[in-house]
Amino acid sequence: MLNLRKDFPILENNYIYLDSAATSLTPNCVIEAMLEYYNNFRANIGRSIYKIANKALEAYEEARNNIAKLINAKSNEIIFVRNTTEAINIIANGLEFNKENNIVTTILEHHSNYLPWIKINIPVRIIMCDNEGEISDFSLIDKNTKIVAITHVSNVLGVKTPIKEIIKIAHENNAFVLVDGAQSVPHMKIDVKELDCDFMAFSGHKMCGPTGIGVLYIKEELQEIIPPLILGGGIIEDVDINSFILRKGPEKYEAGTPAIAEAIGLGEAALYLMKIGMNNIEEHEKYLTRKLLEKLNEIDDVIIYGPKDPSKRTGIVSFNIRGMDPNDVAEKLDKIANIMVRSGFHCAIPLHKYILKAYEGTVRASLYLYNNIDEIEIFIETIRKIINGKLNKNKSQ
Ligand SMILES: Cc1ncc(COP(=O)(O)O)c(C=O)c1O
Repeated sequence: MLNLRKDFPILENNYIYLDSAATSLTPNCVIEAMLEYYNNFRANIGRSIYKIANKALEAYEEARNNIAKLINAKSNEIIFVRNTTEAINIIANGLEFNKENNIVTTILEHHSNYLPWIKINIPVRIIMCDNEGEISDFSLIDKNTKIVAITHVSNVLGVKTPIKEIIKIAHENNAFVLVDGAQSVPHMKIDVKELDCDFMAFSGHKMCGPTGIGVLYIKEELQEIIPPLILGGGIIEDVDINSFILRKGPEKYEAGTPAIAEAIGLGEAALYLMKIGMNNIEEHEKYLTRKLLEKLNEIDDVIIYGPKDPSKRTGIVSFNIRGMDPNDVAEKLDKIANIMVRSGFHCAIPLHKYILKAYEGTVRASLYLYNNIDEIEIFIETIRKIINGKLNKNKSQ
């Protein structure tokens, strides 16, 4: 069992933080790495030639190397962006489509991996899932599919998609694959070379890094066909009166002064996760998820969404209490025991509407490396208290 609470200063407040799918907490080492930049070598990068500007550039590029190591990519395949949303928009805006093309996605997607595709004037085919969130029919992928844009892990159900199989089928049809790794990269070992995906998007703030920084992985050989979304300083070889030549590699996509401290912080977060070991993190979360599901299942009035088999999911557990508004449940968890969860639609309205039929939304508890079994016990106890409170209220009415 991991015991990492001490690494996260915010947890000194005795919080029970079960909202890591929304954003994770930040360990001391990440805060310190950013402070070191601000205190000792705060300068812009790729512009000036004095010593601390070079030091800042070195730290920024070192961060890129560490992210590359984390997902087994080459450094020049790692592009710093603001977040998963921006990364997906770069690909959706950058690909060229013809009239015969279609785009394939799934009903599981976060709006970030949905809106950028439906806004393009090309048919979008949506793979539906079963009641537990599993997808198995990939016949919508055909020779005219330009791209399959799919999440690796659902941010509502925690269900893992059969990503390897999908990538294989997509490539047999000459389609590209974009993997939304926002909920997988922070929680399990990812090897983009082994997966063979073409694009991957993820956010720093969900993996112990700061907000305002994320990653777009683009296979080296595909960078030629994806233009940058925004233009400006730092991305050009040469500029003439009416034309310009772009640089090659990640710099092409990083116009303007980037989020330097945040990139350095994210690089440190990658080191922190690698030091603990992604497999250890996954095992820890599996153990806690199993316990959480077991105990929640014992409570009559709780409806759990997603796979019953814990091995098919990560540490995201969405549920409802019969007869209660999810926002009320979340509010009570916070009020009674300082337990933080998310309630609502989790930016996945189509999934709630068409599969879960949870028209008021759901309550989502999501785990990470700093959670422990005591927190699960307190969470379950508090859910029981909330249900008893509801029953007593009903009786007295
Ligand atoms: C699966 C998934 N994709 C995309 C996003 C969007 O991430 P961001 O808000 O960091 O762009 C999220 C955030 O919750 C997510 O869970």
